[in-house]
Amino acid sequence: MSKVKSRLAGFYKLSIDERRETLAKSTGVALEAFEKLSENGGMTMELADHMVENAVATYALPMGIALNFALNGDDVLVPMVTEEPSVIAAASNAARLIREGGGFIAESDPPLMIAQVHLLEVQNVAHAMRDLQAKREDLLLRMAEAAPGLVRRGGGPRDIELRVLDDGSIVVHLIVHTCDAMGANAVNTIAEKLAPRLAEIARARSGLKILSNLADRRLVRVKGKIPVSALTIDTPELKAGGDEVRDRIVEASRFAELDPYRAATHNKGIMNGIDAVAIATGQDFRGIEAGAHAFAAHKGRYEPLAVWTKTAAGDLEGVIELPMAIGTVGGAVTFHPGAKLAMQLLAQPNTERLGQILAAAGLASNLAAIRALATEGIQRGHMSLHARRVQFQATPNESQSQGGHI
Ligand code: MEV
Repeated sequence: MSKVKSRLAGFYKLSIDERRETLAKSTGVALEAFEKLSENGGMTMELADHMVENAVATYALPMGIALNFALNGDDVLVPMVTEEPSVIAAASNAARLIREGGGFIAESDPPLMIAQVHLLEVQNVAHAMRDLQAKREDLLLRMAEAAPGLVRRGGGPRDIELRVLDDGSIVVHLIVHTCDAMGANAVNTIAEKLAPRLAEIARARSGLKILSNLADRRLVRVKGKIPVSALTIDTPELKAGGDEVRDRIVEASRFAELDPYRAATHNKGIMNGIDAVAIATGQDFRGIEAGAHAFAAHKGRYEPLAVWTKTAAGDLEGVIELPMAIGTVGGAVTFHPGAKLAMQLLAQPNTERLGQILAAAGLASNLAAIRALATEGIQRGHMSLHARRVQFQATPNESQSQGGHI
């Protein structure tokens, strides 16, 4: 486990070179890795041409480091890639507050992905369900045969579930342990290989065969506590007691629980953090987004992914829970130079820890947003950082090495 220190006071005041040196020293990542990444985001045109079709250019975004994160007792430096000013400073600020309450505490479900096979034109639904259930063991064996690599690594088939839809079609859920991979390729292969046999057993026609992004067998839960005293605001512009700030944050969280319009924005603030780490580490952030929003609505109404409450001791506690379909092998994480650097900075986490880091970044971003909204309003902090960009656009040759107040 990593021994880095994520509390790097004054990091934002350093020059870019000094920041890189600090990171290189504390993580062991080679200094050249940062320099290399700064040319075309580290991507050659040749690699770009292999990654997508009709490639004509590469396109870079800034990578910054969110500080102050401690997760399950270990510090972690969190690389974030985003076009939005203030996201990294805000997450760092919130992580500092949560650090005062002992840091983020996280746990994850095993990496179980669901592949769906849709069976249509089912002649007799009851018989089809009975026969599919009766062939369960045989089907699990066939699933294992379709993914020998996964089985060798300790993963592979775990379960089969059947659902009947309103139109009388059947959906078969093939549940697969994907080890350290996100697992899209493996589960899609399994679904395609199993589909003819499933259709034969059910006396039906097989339709779509594809993973579900509602990866609700693969949830991550992170919580963080802030001592009420740490919430006190005492600046020349604003003075507020910790208990008042806590109550306003709880009120903002409750607003999101009661109103899907607010919940959407609340969750957008969460995804500011999650997407930034997902992009930095080469994950399929559209899949994570789809899973997050589908899960937010899984009780029949769109709800916040993170909620904040007052503890018995009067402190503030936040909990986030969402699906986390990610991988540390396969896909861009293994070949994209930026993702490789991000994984090095994160001390090569396994999938479980990476998912927890993503969720912690989401919880931190959410806290920062609703704390600002519930006190000074978003515009003051947000706009002071936004102003740096405006100033840069006006005078693009000036050095812009100052970060936010973290
Ligand atoms: C802006 O990117 C995100 C916020 O709107 C989130 C929120 O309202 O909670 C500030």
